[in-house]
Amino acid sequence: MTRQLHLGVFIYPGGHHIAAWRHPDMKAERITELDYYLENGRLAERGKFDLFFVGDALNAREREGRVVGEIAINNLDPVSIVSAVASVTERIGLVATLSTTYNEPAMIAAKFATLDHLSGGRAGWNVVTTLDEKAALNFSRSEAMEKSLRYQRAQSFVDACKALWDSWEDGATAAEPARIKAPMYRSEFFSVDGPLGMPRPPQGWPVLVQAGGSEPGRDFAASIGEAIFTAQGALPGAQAFRSDIHRRMARLGRAPDSIKIMPGLSPVLGDTEEHALRREAEFAELAHPSVGVWMLTEMTRFRLYDHPLDSLLPTADIRAFNPALGENAVSLMRRAEASPMTIRDAARIMVRSRVHQSFVGTPEQLADHMIMWLNEGGSDGFNILPPIFPNDLALFVDHVVPLLQKRGVFRRDYEGPTLRGHLGGTRPPGRKS
Ligand SMILES: Cc1cc2nc3c(=O)[nH]c(=O)nc-3n(C[C@H](O)[C@H](O)[C@H](O)COP(=O)(O)O)c2cc1C
Repeated sequence: MTRQLHLGVFIYPGGHHIAAWRHPDMKAERITELDYYLENGRLAERGKFDLFFVGDALNAREREGRVVGEIAINNLDPVSIVSAVASVTERIGLVATLSTTYNEPAMIAAKFATLDHLSGGRAGWNVVTTLDEKAALNFSRSEAMEKSLRYQRAQSFVDACKALWDSWEDGATAAEPARIKAPMYRSEFFSVDGPLGMPRPPQGWPVLVQAGGSEPGRDFAASIGEAIFTAQGALPGAQAFRSDIHRRMARLGRAPDSIKIMPGLSPVLGDTEEHALRREAEFAELAHPSVGVWMLTEMTRFRLYDHPLDSLLPTADIRAFNPALGENAVSLMRRAEASPMTIRDAARIMVRSRVHQSFVGTPEQLADHMIMWLNEGGSDGFNILPPIFPNDLALFVDHVVPLLQKRGVFRRDYEGPTLRGHLGGTRPPGRKS
């Protein structure tokens, strides 16, 4: 059988374009309304997507004392959103982000076991260590934990959760106490007696998703991930990332196809290429260039707003100023080094899709492009980032999904009830007494 694509949709307040909320097709007040999430969840299920994904934000971003960015301050709680979407959908997987840095395993294990029960086996957890260092200030700490320590804690956090999810044998009920065992998990980070306060979830565990790009982040992904979200702007980088994860998995004795790597892809579609380009220009008009320059400055810590907008992005100076650039910033530097771009160009990339890949063209061109990435080993699918919800998701569902189905690379219907089943994974067997 032809290798199959896996598709996620990444819901974002308004849309992935930073100025989505200003577009006449998007009503900004909908971002905090239930119906907005339900409509997009139903739409993604109509498109037979593997999963519906919600990120988190543990603090409102600010720059130089001012709170900024519609998308950065309208993040509703992810588990509440996917729980609501579960009630109006039947098959689509539901992935919520929760941090291992600012939570406790017993709480998170119970949340995802609940979601998995209530949704009939559709839960997924995007396990993050928290991107924003300033989040520490909201959690009674004066600074963020050092990164490699954060990932050690994350590994232990997941181990403790697995011990809780496995504390009930498969199929055991509360009437069979002999089949329920307290795991008594101990590590340098956590002490969890257990057992879980409810039966083993339908999938055994929720599907574990990872999105970290650093060295310890990649090791963690290779160790626990079943799907990986990543920002890859171009095919060679995406191929290198996928091979790197596969190498790390091989070292741990894991089969490469037990992880589905899903880079972000932001589609700007049109009936013709000219139409798509016109739409892209129209989106760009909605954001002042300085917004993108601020975003670049935040990502690199290098004060780009002190430089002329039409000068070349000073990648060497940025790298020298900040040798600890994150994965996303490095990916942008590499792109600019391969094909020089001005600060204005880079700002435009940031407002469009941060550093995720964006594609401007017709549905046919996009389907060809996605299949090319699949065949060339750039990915196992994509996390779709519509510039504006729900319109750009609807365009993708109605015009791109049918082409992918016709080409034999995407399901015409769901085969089973669980998220892990959609991703082609194997259910964790659980404990035997
Ligand atoms: C598609 C995608 C979604 C992400 N969503 C979140 C999120 O919701 N919350 C968060 O703290 N980090 C999120 N991240 C960031 C990662 O978890 C990670 O912190 C970041 O990639 C830096 O990784 P590193 O610390 O391993 O370098 C996301 C990353 C990607 C690629």
